[in-house]
Amino acid sequence: MSDDLVLRERRNATLVLTLNRPEKLNALSTAMLEELDAAFDEAESDHGVRVVVVNGAGERAFVAGADIGEYAQLDHDGFVAYQRRSRELFSRIDAFGTPVVGAINGYAFGGGFEIALCCDVLVASSSAVFALPEGLLGLCPGGGGTQRLTRAVGPFVANDMLLSARRLTAHEANALGLVAEVVEPTDLLDAALAKADAIAKVAPLAARTMAELVRTAGDADLERGLDDEQAALASLRATADADEGISAFVDKRAPDFRGS
Ligand code: COA
Repeated sequence: MSDDLVLRERRNATLVLTLNRPEKLNALSTAMLEELDAAFDEAESDHGVRVVVVNGAGERAFVAGADIGEYAQLDHDGFVAYQRRSRELFSRIDAFGTPVVGAINGYAFGGGFEIALCCDVLVASSSAVFALPEGLLGLCPGGGGTQRLTRAVGPFVANDMLLSARRLTAHEANALGLVAEVVEPTDLLDAALAKADAIAKVAPLAARTMAELVRTAGDADLERGLDDEQAALASLRATADADEGISAFVDKRAPDFRGS
Protein backbone atom coordinates (compact mmCIF):
# COMPACT_ATOMS: atom_id res chain seq x y z
CA MET A 1 0.00 0.00 0.00
CA SER A 2 1.39 3.39 -1.02
CA ASP A 3 1.93 6.13 1.59
CA ASP A 4 0.79 8.73 -0.91
CA LEU A 5 -2.40 10.41 0.20
CA VAL A 6 -3.44 10.97 -3.41
CA LEU A 7 -2.62 8.25 -5.93
CA ARG A 8 -2.23 9.23 -9.57
CA GLU A 9 -2.73 6.88 -12.49
CA ARG A 10 -2.85 7.79 -16.15
CA ARG A 11 -5.37 5.82 -18.24
CA ASN A 12 -5.01 7.11 -21.81
CA ALA A 13 -6.19 10.74 -21.72
CA THR A 14 -7.67 10.37 -18.23
CA LEU A 15 -5.83 11.07 -15.00
CA VAL A 16 -7.32 9.03 -12.15
CA LEU A 17 -6.77 10.56 -8.71
CA THR A 18 -7.51 8.33 -5.73
CA LEU A 19 -7.83 9.86 -2.27
CA ASN A 20 -5.91 7.31 -0.28
CA ARG A 21 -6.51 7.12 3.44
CA PRO A 22 -9.00 4.26 3.59
CA GLU A 23 -8.43 3.45 7.28
CA LYS A 24 -9.87 6.91 8.07
CA LEU A 25 -12.49 6.72 5.31
CA ASN A 26 -10.30 9.11 3.27
CA ALA A 27 -10.96 12.00 5.69
CA LEU A 28 -9.42 15.22 4.43
CA SER A 29 -6.36 16.12 6.46
CA THR A 30 -4.41 19.27 5.63
CA ALA A 31 -1.70 17.07 4.09
CA MET A 32 -4.31 15.45 1.86
CA LEU A 33 -5.64 18.83 0.72
CA GLU A 34 -2.09 19.82 -0.25
CA GLU A 35 -1.50 16.57 -2.16
CA LEU A 36 -4.79 16.92 -3.96
CA ASP A 37 -3.91 20.47 -4.97
CA ALA A 38 -0.51 19.26 -6.23
CA ALA A 39 -2.22 16.49 -8.22
CA PHE A 40 -4.41 19.12 -9.91
CA ASP A 41 -1.22 21.10 -10.68
CA GLU A 42 0.04 18.01 -12.51
CA ALA A 43 -3.24 17.61 -14.36
CA GLU A 44 -3.09 21.26 -15.40
CA SER A 45 0.49 21.15 -16.67
CA ASP A 46 0.03 17.91 -18.65
CA HIS A 47 -1.76 18.91 -21.84
CA GLY A 48 -2.40 15.27 -22.69
CA VAL A 49 -4.87 15.02 -19.81
CA ARG A 50 -8.39 15.53 -21.15
CA VAL A 51 -10.37 14.38 -18.10
CA VAL A 52 -9.66 13.95 -14.39
CA VAL A 53 -11.45 11.22 -12.42
CA VAL A 54 -11.50 11.59 -8.63
CA ASN A 55 -12.36 8.61 -6.44
CA GLY A 56 -11.71 7.25 -2.97
CA ALA A 57 -9.56 4.27 -1.95
CA GLY A 58 -11.23 1.27 -0.36
CA GLU A 59 -14.79 0.10 -0.57
CA ARG A 60 -16.34 2.18 2.18
CA ALA A 61 -15.84 5.83 1.35
CA PHE A 62 -15.23 8.47 -1.24
CA VAL A 63 -14.38 10.96 1.51
CA ALA A 64 -16.02 11.02 4.98
CA GLY A 65 -15.39 14.75 5.34
CA ALA A 66 -12.80 16.95 6.94
CA ASP A 67 -10.45 15.20 9.34
CA ILE A 68 -12.28 15.63 12.65
CA GLY A 69 -9.26 14.30 14.52
CA GLU A 70 -7.24 17.19 13.10
CA TYR A 71 -10.08 19.62 13.97
CA ALA A 72 -9.71 18.53 17.59
CA GLN A 73 -6.04 19.58 17.55
CA LEU A 74 -6.41 22.93 15.76
CA ASP A 75 -6.77 26.24 17.55
CA HIS A 76 -9.31 28.72 16.18
CA ASP A 77 -6.87 30.37 13.76
CA GLY A 78 -5.74 26.97 12.52
CA PHE A 79 -9.35 25.92 12.03
CA VAL A 80 -10.13 29.07 10.03
CA ALA A 81 -6.97 28.55 7.95
CA TYR A 82 -8.03 24.95 7.21
CA GLN A 83 -11.43 26.19 6.01
CA ARG A 84 -9.84 28.84 3.81
CA ARG A 85 -7.54 26.23 2.28
CA SER A 86 -10.31 23.74 1.57
CA ARG A 87 -12.57 26.42 0.13
CA GLU A 88 -9.78 27.55 -2.19
CA LEU A 89 -9.06 24.00 -3.36
CA PHE A 90 -12.72 23.08 -3.86
CA SER A 91 -13.30 26.25 -5.88
CA ARG A 92 -10.26 25.35 -7.98
CA ILE A 93 -11.78 21.93 -8.71
CA ASP A 94 -15.12 23.57 -9.52
CA ALA A 95 -13.51 25.99 -12.01
CA PHE A 96 -10.91 23.51 -13.29
CA GLY A 97 -10.51 23.84 -17.05
CA THR A 98 -10.28 20.09 -17.64
CA PRO A 99 -13.54 18.24 -16.92
CA VAL A 100 -13.63 16.41 -13.58
CA VAL A 101 -15.65 13.22 -13.08
CA GLY A 102 -16.37 12.18 -9.49
CA ALA A 103 -16.57 8.43 -8.92
CA ILE A 104 -18.39 8.09 -5.61
CA ASN A 105 -17.90 4.73 -3.96
CA GLY A 106 -19.34 5.06 -0.43
CA TYR A 107 -19.62 7.85 2.12
CA ALA A 108 -19.40 11.30 0.54
CA PHE A 109 -19.90 13.32 3.70
CA GLY A 110 -19.12 16.93 4.52
CA GLY A 111 -16.07 17.98 2.50
CA GLY A 112 -16.41 14.78 0.47
CA PHE A 113 -19.85 15.82 -0.69
CA GLU A 114 -18.54 19.33 -1.26
CA ILE A 115 -15.81 17.97 -3.57
CA ALA A 116 -18.48 15.93 -5.37
CA LEU A 117 -20.51 19.13 -5.83
CA CYS A 118 -17.45 20.68 -7.52
CA CYS A 119 -17.12 17.88 -10.08
CA ASP A 120 -18.66 18.31 -13.53
CA VAL A 121 -20.26 14.86 -13.65
CA LEU A 122 -20.86 12.28 -10.92
CA VAL A 123 -21.01 8.52 -11.29
CA ALA A 124 -21.90 6.64 -8.10
CA SER A 125 -21.85 3.09 -6.89
CA SER A 126 -25.13 1.79 -5.45
CA SER A 127 -23.44 1.94 -2.02
CA ALA A 128 -22.75 5.69 -2.18
CA VAL A 129 -24.23 7.87 0.57
CA PHE A 130 -24.24 11.66 0.48
CA ALA A 131 -24.62 13.91 3.53
CA LEU A 132 -23.69 17.22 5.08
CA PRO A 133 -23.68 16.26 8.77
CA GLU A 134 -21.72 19.28 10.03
CA GLY A 135 -24.69 20.40 12.15
CA LEU A 136 -24.23 17.28 14.28
CA LEU A 137 -20.80 18.67 15.22
CA GLY A 138 -22.21 22.10 16.00
CA LEU A 139 -20.78 23.42 12.74
CA CYS A 140 -21.92 24.21 9.22
CA PRO A 141 -20.28 23.42 5.88
CA GLY A 142 -17.36 25.67 4.94
CA GLY A 143 -16.39 24.42 1.49
CA GLY A 144 -19.50 25.44 -0.41
CA GLY A 145 -22.04 22.89 0.87
CA THR A 146 -24.80 25.39 1.57
CA GLN A 147 -24.15 27.35 -1.61
CA ARG A 148 -23.48 24.71 -4.26
CA LEU A 149 -26.08 22.24 -2.97
CA THR A 150 -28.77 24.93 -2.95
CA ARG A 151 -27.87 25.93 -6.50
CA ALA A 152 -27.94 22.28 -7.56
CA VAL A 153 -31.18 21.09 -5.93
CA GLY A 154 -32.96 24.13 -4.51
CA PRO A 155 -33.56 25.30 -0.93
CA PHE A 156 -35.99 22.60 0.22
CA VAL A 157 -33.76 19.61 -0.44
CA ALA A 158 -30.73 21.59 0.73
CA ASN A 159 -32.42 22.51 4.00
CA ASP A 160 -33.63 18.96 4.51
CA MET A 161 -30.07 17.65 4.13
CA LEU A 162 -28.48 20.41 6.19
CA LEU A 163 -31.00 20.78 9.01
CA SER A 164 -31.77 17.09 9.55
CA ALA A 165 -28.38 15.70 8.41
CA ARG A 166 -30.37 13.54 6.01
CA ARG A 167 -28.35 10.97 4.13
CA LEU A 168 -29.11 10.54 0.45
CA THR A 169 -28.68 7.15 -1.18
CA ALA A 170 -27.10 6.93 -4.61
CA HIS A 171 -30.51 6.38 -6.19
CA GLU A 172 -31.99 9.38 -4.37
CA ALA A 173 -29.05 11.51 -5.54
CA ASN A 174 -29.66 10.22 -9.04
CA ALA A 175 -33.37 11.07 -8.85
CA LEU A 176 -32.47 14.59 -7.71
CA GLY A 177 -30.22 15.05 -10.72
CA LEU A 178 -26.96 15.15 -8.77
CA VAL A 179 -25.66 11.82 -10.02
CA ALA A 180 -25.59 10.95 -13.72
CA GLU A 181 -25.37 7.20 -13.32
CA VAL A 182 -25.59 4.57 -10.56
CA VAL A 183 -23.70 1.29 -11.03
CA GLU A 184 -22.69 -1.73 -8.98
CA PRO A 185 -19.64 -1.06 -6.77
CA THR A 186 -17.42 -3.39 -8.82
CA ASP A 187 -18.32 -1.50 -12.01
CA LEU A 188 -17.69 2.01 -10.67
CA LEU A 189 -14.22 2.70 -12.01
CA ASP A 190 -15.06 1.27 -15.43
CA ALA A 191 -18.21 3.41 -15.56
CA ALA A 192 -16.25 6.52 -14.57
CA LEU A 193 -13.58 5.74 -17.19
CA ALA A 194 -16.26 5.19 -19.84
CA LYS A 195 -17.77 8.57 -18.95
CA ALA A 196 -14.28 10.09 -19.14
CA ASP A 197 -13.70 8.52 -22.57
CA ALA A 198 -16.98 10.00 -23.81
CA ILE A 199 -15.99 13.43 -22.48
CA ALA A 200 -12.52 13.10 -24.05
CA LYS A 201 -14.17 12.78 -27.48
CA VAL A 202 -15.59 16.29 -27.18
CA ALA A 203 -13.27 19.07 -28.38
CA PRO A 204 -11.31 20.20 -25.28
CA LEU A 205 -11.96 23.93 -25.69
CA ALA A 206 -15.65 23.25 -26.24
CA ALA A 207 -15.78 21.09 -23.10
CA ARG A 208 -13.99 23.74 -21.05
CA THR A 209 -16.31 26.45 -22.37
CA MET A 210 -19.50 24.50 -21.71
CA ALA A 211 -18.47 23.54 -18.18
CA GLU A 212 -17.71 27.18 -17.41
CA LEU A 213 -21.05 28.34 -18.84
CA VAL A 214 -22.89 25.74 -16.76
CA ARG A 215 -20.89 26.61 -13.63
CA THR A 216 -21.83 30.27 -13.86
CA ALA A 217 -25.39 29.77 -15.19
CA GLY A 218 -26.96 29.97 -11.74
CA ASP A 219 -25.25 33.28 -11.00
CA ALA A 220 -26.25 35.27 -14.07
CA ASP A 221 -29.67 36.51 -15.10
CA LEU A 222 -30.96 34.79 -18.24
CA GLU A 223 -30.13 37.53 -20.76
CA ARG A 224 -26.60 37.89 -19.38
CA GLY A 225 -26.17 34.12 -19.49
CA LEU A 226 -27.41 34.00 -23.08
CA ASP A 227 -24.98 36.79 -24.00
CA ASP A 228 -22.13 34.82 -22.45
CA GLU A 229 -23.19 31.69 -24.32
CA GLN A 230 -23.32 33.47 -27.70
CA ALA A 231 -19.94 35.12 -27.11
CA ALA A 232 -18.44 31.76 -26.16
CA LEU A 233 -19.90 30.10 -29.25
CA ALA A 234 -18.52 32.84 -31.51
CA SER A 235 -15.07 32.32 -29.96
CA LEU A 236 -15.28 28.56 -30.39
CA ARG A 237 -16.30 28.92 -34.04
CA ALA A 238 -12.99 30.69 -34.65
CA THR A 239 -10.95 27.71 -33.35
CA ALA A 240 -9.15 25.15 -35.50
CA ASP A 241 -11.03 22.41 -33.65
CA ALA A 242 -14.39 23.78 -34.83
CA ASP A 243 -13.12 23.74 -38.43
CA GLU A 244 -11.92 20.19 -37.84
CA GLY A 245 -15.18 19.04 -36.17
CA ILE A 246 -17.37 20.45 -38.94
CA SER A 247 -15.09 19.13 -41.74
CA ALA A 248 -14.93 15.70 -40.11
CA PHE A 249 -18.73 15.51 -39.95
CA VAL A 250 -19.04 16.50 -43.62
CA ASP A 251 -16.25 14.04 -44.62
CA LYS A 252 -17.84 11.26 -42.52
CA ARG A 253 -14.67 10.65 -40.48
CA ALA A 254 -13.71 10.92 -36.79
CA PRO A 255 -12.42 14.38 -35.83
CA ASP A 256 -8.86 14.85 -34.62
CA PHE A 257 -9.15 17.58 -32.01
CA ARG A 258 -5.94 19.34 -30.92
CA GLY A 259 -7.32 21.70 -28.32
CA SER A 260 -6.69 24.80 -30.39
N1 COA B 1 -12.41 12.51 10.27
C1 COA B 1 -11.52 11.73 10.86
N2 COA B 1 -11.65 10.40 10.99
C2 COA B 1 -12.76 9.86 10.47
C3 COA B 1 -13.74 10.61 9.81
C4 COA B 1 -13.54 12.00 9.72
N3 COA B 1 -14.40 12.80 9.07
N4 COA B 1 -14.73 9.78 9.40
C5 COA B 1 -14.37 8.55 9.78
N5 COA B 1 -13.18 8.59 10.41
C6 COA B 1 -12.42 7.47 10.98
C7 COA B 1 -13.04 6.98 12.27
O1 COA B 1 -12.60 7.77 13.37
C8 COA B 1 -12.50 5.57 12.31
O2 COA B 1 -11.15 5.61 12.71
P1 COA B 1 -10.62 4.58 13.89
O3 COA B 1 -10.86 3.21 13.29
O4 COA B 1 -9.19 4.93 14.01
O5 COA B 1 -11.46 4.84 15.09
C9 COA B 1 -12.51 5.15 10.85
O6 COA B 1 -12.49 6.36 10.10
C10 COA B 1 -13.73 4.36 10.46
O7 COA B 1 -14.88 5.14 10.78
P2 COA B 1 -16.07 4.61 11.74
O8 COA B 1 -16.73 5.80 12.33
O9 COA B 1 -15.55 3.57 12.67
O10 COA B 1 -16.99 3.91 10.65
P3 COA B 1 -18.58 3.73 10.73
O11 COA B 1 -18.92 2.81 9.63
O12 COA B 1 -19.00 3.35 12.11
O13 COA B 1 -19.18 5.18 10.42
C11 COA B 1 -19.39 7.28 9.27
C12 COA B 1 -18.93 5.80 9.19
C13 COA B 1 -18.95 7.98 7.98
C14 COA B 1 -20.89 7.34 9.43
C15 COA B 1 -18.70 7.94 10.49
O14 COA B 1 -17.32 7.66 10.44
C16 COA B 1 -18.87 9.43 10.55
O15 COA B 1 -19.92 9.92 10.92
N6 COA B 1 -17.78 10.18 10.22
C17 COA B 1 -17.78 11.62 10.31
C18 COA B 1 -18.55 12.25 9.17
C19 COA B 1 -18.62 13.76 9.33
O16 COA B 1 -19.13 14.28 10.29
N7 COA B 1 -18.07 14.47 8.32
C20 COA B 1 -18.09 15.90 8.29
C21 COA B 1 -16.89 16.43 8.97
S1 COA B 1 -16.93 18.20 9.10
